[in-house]
Amino acid sequence: MTAQTIDGAGIAAEVRAAVRQRAQALRENGRQAALAVVLVGEDPASRIYVRNKVKACAEVGIVSTHIELPVDATREQLLATIAGLNADPAVHGILVQLPLPPHLDSREVIELIDPAKDVDGFHPRNAGALFTGQPRLVPCTPLGVMTLIARTGVTVRGARAVIVGASNIVGKPQAMLLLQAGATVTICNSKTRDLAAQTREADILVVAVGRARMITGDMVRPGAVVIDVGMNRLPDGKLCGDVDFGSVREVAGWLTPVPGGVGPMTIATLLSNTLDAAETRD
Ligand code: GUN
Repeated sequence: MTAQTIDGAGIAAEVRAAVRQRAQALRENGRQAALAVVLVGEDPASRIYVRNKVKACAEVGIVSTHIELPVDATREQLLATIAGLNADPAVHGILVQLPLPPHLDSREVIELIDPAKDVDGFHPRNAGALFTGQPRLVPCTPLGVMTLIARTGVTVRGARAVIVGASNIVGKPQAMLLLQAGATVTICNSKTRDLAAQTREADILVVAVGRARMITGDMVRPGAVVIDVGMNRLPDGKLCGDVDFGSVREVAGWLTPVPGGVGPMTIATLLSNTLDAAETRD
């Protein structure tokens, strides 16, 4: 079997088109959707992510403010920046790009963001809402993955879903979303014994560990939906996922490419979350 490729870039373009219409409808009601993106320091990957997010906003008619603080910004400076954005009625979404420089406590920063403006869905209030089955703002990557899975037409209800990686940003919220959709969910972590025995059980396999090509064809159930959240830079400068595309393609039913799979969906979902936040503001 050769897997069908899940066209993340194409599906993301459709999501962005819908967001553009919602932003336009909001403007016709006299309101302009707006996102503030905060970047602390010079991390080159973070700079690229932030640039892509700001560009994506412009393309769908969301106004974005890009706030850059120096790598030695103090805790007080960053907290004052967030407090200012919380208080600004013209700002609907706030995103602080992670990771922060080591002297800053990302947990403290996330907890200060107004949950109603937390378009990353990282605030404990939003994480708790997802956990208890009343999701509000949900982390962009796992929510985007749900859209990609839905587009395969594969039934999630009753399916066995295995997630490799237990981060707060992807693995844990992904598990909650799949559980809520009726899947039987297993979360694997770096200590999991016989990982392949787990992954081979999966009708839906989501991999988010940050290790290049660690999931190979022999670890995948024939016909499975395989979602590769990984984005790894190889020594030759090329990007590759956590899934070994060549061998898994021969076994899986559906597979996301890297790049062009999950990445574009994450950004499209951020835009959609920003509209959710803007629309619910009175
Ligand atoms: N760094 C890596 N992924 C993310 C994300 O989804 N949101 C933010 N704010 N920072 C990140």
